[in-house]
Amino acid sequence: MNIESALTSVVGSSNVLTNDDAAPYLTDWRGYYHGSAHCVVRPSTTDQVAQIVKLCAEHRTAIVPQGGNTGLVGGATPDASGMAVVLLTTRLNQIRDLDLANNTVTVEAGCILESLQKYCKDHDRLFPLSLAAEGSCTIGGNLASNAGGSQVLRYGAIRDLTLGLEVVTSDGQIWKGLNGLRKNNTGYDLKSLFVGSEGTLGIITAATLKVFPMPRVRHTALVAVEGIEHCLALLERARAAFEANLTAFEVMADVCLRLVTEHFPDQHLPFHELSPHARWYVLLEIADSNIEDHVRTSFETMLGDAYGAAEIVNAVVANSIDQSRSMWHLRESITLAQAKSGKSIKHDIALPISRIPQFVDQMGQHLSKEFPGLTIMPFGHLGDGNLHYNVASSDDFNPEKLLQSQDEIYLAVHDTVHAYGGSISAEHGVGQLKRRELKRYKTSHELNMMQAIKSALDPLNILNPGKLL
Ligand code: FAD
Ligand code: MLT
Ligand code: ZN
Repeated sequence: MNIESALTSVVGSSNVLTNDDAAPYLTDWRGYYHGSAHCVVRPSTTDQVAQIVKLCAEHRTAIVPQGGNTGLVGGATPDASGMAVVLLTTRLNQIRDLDLANNTVTVEAGCILESLQKYCKDHDRLFPLSLAAEGSCTIGGNLASNAGGSQVLRYGAIRDLTLGLEVVTSDGQIWKGLNGLRKNNTGYDLKSLFVGSEGTLGIITAATLKVFPMPRVRHTALVAVEGIEHCLALLERARAAFEANLTAFEVMADVCLRLVTEHFPDQHLPFHELSPHARWYVLLEIADSNIEDHVRTSFETMLGDAYGAAEIVNAVVANSIDQSRSMWHLRESITLAQAKSGKSIKHDIALPISRIPQFVDQMGQHLSKEFPGLTIMPFGHLGDGNLHYNVASSDDFNPEKLLQSQDEIYLAVHDTVHAYGGSISAEHGVGQLKRRELKRYKTSHELNMMQAIKSALDPLNILNPGKLL
């Protein structure tokens, strides 16, 4: 029996997609990677996933797991050989259990992040992972790429939220590692190995994740500042004032917001007038269980003090949930605006926070000298030391030039990041995009250990081959 017929016997013909039906799953979100596959298969239970993996192992067929296909490094796109099976998890989407006393939720991999957030909210709990793709990305994809987003400062990335996993391993066995334990020192931490493994070590089918009491109030502000060093000064001030209640500290260069308002004219900055000196914007948020007015007063006082110390140029504190949403909407539309305006080069870097101003300065000078006219569009999660140091074409640096210079630009940015002791992938993963570079920046010792793990868990190399390693 060929692989399609065998898979059909597991999930039924309507869940084995080929030709035009399969096409949407063969290209990544940004349209940078295009692949081909035998078929796309859509299981709805863990047992079906296990049977699919067994069949693929028997047929020596590569499996490319895919959730919402919002990944930014080509990790969920098959190669061009047409020999792989794309395993789509979106029908495996049940929320299995919410344990209020233990503050945990157990959810299947294909559940959309936003659905999980809503479900938890309806039960007076917060599931804190939050990112602009939350309406389409899945928990499995979040786990496989160890997604970060805008609340990492307070709650950590999804690895920090993960207590247990259920995983189908490459031989088709089911590892039933779902537990809600906050302490468990019984050897190697297998769940942490699967989180961030980008589909190369196993198919994640379910997870037990931490949830939190719902904060009673949130205060959001959009702040204009002169330079990145002022963003850092404000971060220090906000941290000192609010400690763990500071839940988000996002930064955006002014060009990013201009791009958003250009592509989405219904979105506006909340300032009456913009100072030409404000080159950066900070979106910061505090959350508290205390609904008293003094929380907002402290927030305003902190911003007033920052203004008095000439750290900030202007600030608007949201007066309503709607205004807060609009501020977040501006921030979360940057990626979409960039996608609309053509090709850009994404650098998802992490640095020690203290070194970010120096990096921004040095890198800016270097790129402006070597690639005059290039637009630099940095934004990101400054509170986590994570910048999306993106660059784009402009009238003076056309898209063809950008394409020609792409490798040189990647190298210049990533070599500098490496020299600063940083990471070339803070939260998006390696996928196809940074596979070659991983070899450049990891030591052979590190790569050998990673390869040993891969060979032990996937000896036939059928799980997402050609990604990460
Ligand atoms: P996919 O794209 O489908 O897959 C991602 C990787 O996980 C692939 O390697 C795939 O093979 C693997 N995979 C998927 N499901 C499974 C599974 N069940 N088992 C094993 N492997 C699996 N990321 C951040 O970290 N922070 C952000 O703030 C952020 N913002 C974004 C904003 C936008 C507009 C977009 C488009 C993307 C953003 N991302 C962000 C990137 C992306 O990582 C997340 O959107 C998300 O975590 C990917 O989930 P997904 O279900 O779409 O995964
Ligand atoms: C974000 O922080 O908005 C994302 O990681 C997406 C991106 O880098 O474009
Ligand atoms: Zn991000």
